[in-house]
Amino acid sequence: MLILGLETSCDETAAAAVGDDADFACRIRANRVASQLVEHKPYGGVVPEIAARAHLDKLDDLIRLALDDAKITLGDLDGIAATSGPGLIGGVMVGAMTGKSIAAVRNLPFIAVNHLEAHALTVRLTNDITFPYLLLLVSGGHCQLLLVKGVGAYRLLGTTIDDAAGECFDKGAKLLGLDYPGGPAIERAAAQGNPKAFDLPRPMLGRAGCDFSFSGLKTALRQLAATHQPSPSFVADAAASLQATIADILYDRARNAFGILAEENEKPTALVAAGGVASNNAIRTRLTKLAGENRVPFVAPPAALCTDNGAMVAWAGIERLRLGLKDGLDFAARPRWPLDPSAREARG
Ligand code: KG4
Ligand code: ZN
Repeated sequence: MLILGLETSCDETAAAAVGDDADFACRIRANRVASQLVEHKPYGGVVPEIAARAHLDKLDDLIRLALDDAKITLGDLDGIAATSGPGLIGGVMVGAMTGKSIAAVRNLPFIAVNHLEAHALTVRLTNDITFPYLLLLVSGGHCQLLLVKGVGAYRLLGTTIDDAAGECFDKGAKLLGLDYPGGPAIERAAAQGNPKAFDLPRPMLGRAGCDFSFSGLKTALRQLAATHQPSPSFVADAAASLQATIADILYDRARNAFGILAEENEKPTALVAAGGVASNNAIRTRLTKLAGENRVPFVAPPAALCTDNGAMVAWAGIERLRLGLKDGLDFAARPRWPLDPSAREARG
């Protein structure tokens, strides 16, 4: 099976061709990502209208490049998968419409992919992971703990009551005068700093349940930045302290998730992290420790597959199509689309 995957839900335009080869190393035939960093940098964050227009400008060329990389034509495909929500609706519409148009013209199955499901299933593209697994989904718009029971079968264990972890990195970086996107900038600055330099608040820490909160942390960082000269050593120490604090919060909440599952005699096969923030090495280290304490492996996709990409969308398309799941060309793009509709609606 060979699927084209399109991703346009935030600030990366992406197209990828992915197969379901038994050999994991052969699956990704092409994976093109065009970042909109330059377009959004002057604003210090993603501007939805600029994003939608940039997706429209870039997507056709990216698809052509991805097909060339894979040395295939549209005629070789078994289906088209496009992120159809949740996300910035203008961009989501660009990808979904493009995917539906190709599917209509080539008479191919169309798979409307939930962006969060694409992040959630990426480890099955890269590793031999079986259901159920405990997933920490941490990105710019989302911060959730989920039990992944199967394709389309998710149980939300906890979510953020205010900001997402990625937002906390991005806003923290802005306060410290670092580049956008903030996560990688904080990680680089933190490498020179002392993670114990500042004792920042850890909202929700030690409380029952698995919900997250980051807004108090952000406020504390704002006060810290306002009362210090932005010398390189201050910025490095503040970045290292922020990163360590976020890692502590994620560790604490995920530990509670293991506790809840153990009480129910539910045995996850692995602790999995996905989404842009999962590419952070300090966070990976903490989660590896937690997984070890719970006698399961810690698995996260390589950094390039943690941040938004088309390969994860194509793979989610493969997982769904294998089960006979496809969508009509009347599928409407969704700004919100929770993975676990039975839980209270998650932010973002
Ligand atoms: O998954 P993603 O590419 O897009 C969304 O779906 O949101 O995640 C982007 C987020 C941004 O907030 C970015 O700052 C964060 O992931 N991020 C990181 C790192 N790389 C990206 N956060 C911490 N450390 C990193 N190395
Ligand atoms: Zn994402």
